Order: sequence, then C-alpha cells, then structure tokens
Amino acid sequence: MLDYDAEAANYDRTRGGEERAEAAAAAVRTLLPRNTRTVVDVACGTGIVSARLRAPNRTVLGVDLSAGMLTYARPRLRGAVARADATRLPLADSTIDVVIFMWLLHLVDAETADRAMAEAARVLRPGGVVVATVDKNLAMYAVPSDLSAVLEPAQRAALPENTDAWAAFTASGRRNGLDSDGETSYVGYGQGWSPRQLLRKIPQFDWYRGLDNAAAEDLSARVAALPEPDRARPDPVYRIARLRKAD
Ligand SMILES: C[S@@+](CC[C@H](N)C(=O)[O-])C[C@H]1O[C@@H](n2cnc3c(N)ncnc32)[C@H](O)[C@@H]1O
Repeated sequence: MLDYDAEAANYDRTRGGEERAEAAAAAVRTLLPRNTRTVVDVACGTGIVSARLRAPNRTVLGVDLSAGMLTYARPRLRGAVARADATRLPLADSTIDVVIFMWLLHLVDAETADRAMAEAARVLRPGGVVVATVDKNLAMYAVPSDLSAVLEPAQRAALPENTDAWAAFTASGRRNGLDSDGETSYVGYGQGWSPRQLLRKIPQFDWYRGLDNAAAEDLSARVAALPEPDRARPDPVYRIARLRKAD
C-alpha cells in the first residue's frame, strides 16, 4: 500500500480535489438514513469528503491509520478524528448510525476487508448502515473507450478478484448480519486519464507490477500506440453500495 503519510500533502490535489470530494459526498448523502446523528468515516484520509457530511445535530468522526492524513482531517472535522485501524475502532457496540468506507476496501486484503466489515457491524446500531465504494479499480472502465479496451482485459486477468468487488462486499456483509440495501454512483470529474498520463501512473499499480516483463512491455506498448495520447479518456464512475444491519 502507498505510504499515505508521505502522500498526505499531495493527496487532495491529485485525487480530484474539491470537485471529486463534493461529488462523492453528494452521492453518500443520498444513502444516509433520515435523522442520521452519528457518522464514522473509516479511512477518512484528509477528511475532504467527511467534512462535507457534517450537519446540525450530527457528529462525523474521521478514523484513519495515517497520522499524516489526519493532520489535514483534524481541522476539517473540528478535532473529531481518531488514529485507529478499520478492524479495531475505538467505539462502543451498537452506537453508530452510519459507517463509511470510501476508497478503502480495494486497498486491503480480503481478510482485513472482512474484519473491517465485522467491526462496522459491531459498532452499528440496529438499522444502521455501511456506505462504501465497491469495484473502485473498475471505475475507469464504466464508460468504454479505446484505452479501456486495452487496459481492462489486462487488469482483470492480472487481478481477477478485487477485494472491494460487489460480490465479495455483499457476501462479507451477509456473514456479518448486514443486507444489501441500495446503491448509487458518482463521476470522478477530471480524473479520466490520457494514454500518456496512464503510462506515467501504471508502474505504481500492484497488478501491473505483478506482470512478467514481456506482458508489461506489451501492454505499455499498446497503450503508447493509441491515438491522441494527450486527450483524457472518459471520467471514471465510482460505485457506492449500502448495507443495512437488521433492526
Ligand atoms: C485512498 S485513501 C481514501 C481517503 C478518503 N476516504 C477519501 O475518499 O479521500 C485511503 C486511506 O485509507 C487509510 N487506511 C488504509 N488502511 C487502513 C486501515 N486498515 N485502517 C484505517 N485506515 C486505513 C489510508 O491511511 C488512507 O488515508
């Protein structure tokens, strides 16, 4: 996983900034139950999304492992942050209305994702919900393009099961007493990549690093051969799912 302490200063600027955060928060708001009083944004990062979920009569707590990311979240959330692991939240049982996992589950292994789900189920009150991004790494293929036609099959072959895949997410929810309860999506404005931008980023992707040299070179060559190398391809569309704990 990326070193988020080192990344913190650049994070917002390089992840779609305020525009992405507003689109994400607007989508999450549509999935918040009426009268939501307590929200825990697990892996809140810089708090750029979490801060937008604050409202009168509502507490939003940001939790993250990275002290560097929390440096930015702390003022945004008026100090309501905690440094903790998603699998061990410093919260009492059955006390929280909403647990959010925004751009977390794709980063961790399947066991950690399941333990984070169990922890969310523990802290949620009956009727409370988990709201989470799913299939994050496939968001860039939501709108087909020549770039996605080259990249998607290679990524799917190299990484057949994303840890935040819809099926894995809902199965983990069921194991932990949470049932599927709706979904929405949001556009990552300005986050569509050109072939040239992709070629700069691709060495950072774990699935690409796992390819053998010949496959990696072949893929890079096919991306480099695409026309209009500086034209950004369609923006990604991120999927957000909701699970509900039984009343
Ligand atoms: C891609 S960032 C997402 C930040 C934020 N949710 C957003 O949408 O901007 C992933 C965050 O997950 C945090 N993280 C990774 N593993 C974690 C864990 N096990 N428990 C808590 N936070 C974790 C990282 O420190 C980082 O801030």
